[in-house]
Amino acid sequence: MAHTPAPQYQHYPIIFFPFFFAVLQRAFPFHILQISSFPNSSYARTDFLAWLGELQTHRWRNESDTMQFLKPWSMGRFSQQQVKQLQQEFLVYRLSVFDDVQKFSKLLKLTYPIDIQVFVGCELHPDNVSESYFHVAFQGSLILSFQGSSYKAAPDVSPKVDVVVQELNKDPGTSAVMQVLMNYTFPQLVRGLIEAGKSDLEKQVKPEAWLSSGPSPGPGRLLLVCRVSGFYPKPVWVKWMRGEQEQPAQQGDILPNADETWHLRVTMDVESREAAGLSCRVKHSSLGGQDIILYWGGSRISWMWIWALVVLGCVLIVGIACFRRPIWMWLKRHCSYEDIP
Ligand SMILES: *[C@@H]1O[C@H](CO)[C@@H](O)[C@H](O)[C@H]1NC(C)=O
Ligand SMILES: *[C@@H]1O[C@H](CO)[C@@H](O)[C@H](O)[C@H]1NC(C)=O
Repeated sequence: MAHTPAPQYQHYPIIFFPFFFAVLQRAFPFHILQISSFPNSSYARTDFLAWLGELQTHRWRNESDTMQFLKPWSMGRFSQQQVKQLQQEFLVYRLSVFDDVQKFSKLLKLTYPIDIQVFVGCELHPDNVSESYFHVAFQGSLILSFQGSSYKAAPDVSPKVDVVVQELNKDPGTSAVMQVLMNYTFPQLVRGLIEAGKSDLEKQVKPEAWLSSGPSPGPGRLLLVCRVSGFYPKPVWVKWMRGEQEQPAQQGDILPNADETWHLRVTMDVESREAAGLSCRVKHSSLGGQDIILYWGGSRISWMWIWALVVLGCVLIVGIACFRRPIWMWLKRHCSYEDIP
């Protein structure tokens, strides 16, 4: 729990989760994100999303009473019966969230709309020890966590949170369920998921890369853009280089594609006349040491043109040498005076 990186709570998970993946690399942590919004006191919606490593495994929409399994291996090694039971527990939990928020909003005179996000996760360490966490954010800020056998307020939060924590800890039943979930159910689920999904999780998808220029940053300057897309897993190394020298560049975030691969843009602002000779270099586990290297315009293009001209010249010379007679005869046949009426 202690070394789970302090998350930056955002309103949408895609931005938040890659942060975890970057830190926890090939360990395939399991994360569940719960988003509950309460626009007013009488309506609420709660959605769940779950990931194993970088892959989305489950989704549970507010409209549905059952969760969706997004991968053929999303049940892990659980039996139908175990899945049913887990689903039942989640349904009860979903209702209790609604009741709790209504209760606390009255008790603490909170104003609507209210946004609750819950981050639940479990990671297996190489020594087979598991670590689970359960964090709750209110209006985008972390307020409390479940640790060991009880809820605890986050540091530096409003005294109102202490009231919530005290209330939640009054119910020994909830605490028991939480402990079983975090100490046994989640680790078992994650072991099963990693076993069943191994080949999917460990797949390697090669990136494609291409260069373009962005909007000019100023007179006499160029914005060189290197785009790398379609790779899995997420870790990637993309640099603008001059020879073997890394150049200062702006690296964007690694963003998801719809097909569970990633893309990245690395841009460099240069004087136009200094662009020639720069290259974009990409390293990725799928490339097996064969880095992708793309050269920016300038020298490479001019050599290509010179080669193209040389080849064209040769073709013309050979062509004229071989077909001089036939061409001449053809011209003669078609352009003879007899054709003129
Ligand atoms: C890891 O721990 C779990 C539960 O403690 C146990 O069932 C499993 O056999 C262990 N796996 C390995 C590879 O030791
Ligand atoms: C679950 O693990 C925590 C420590 O992480 C421990 O304090 C607690 O007693 C455990 N509960 C059960 C029911 O095993």
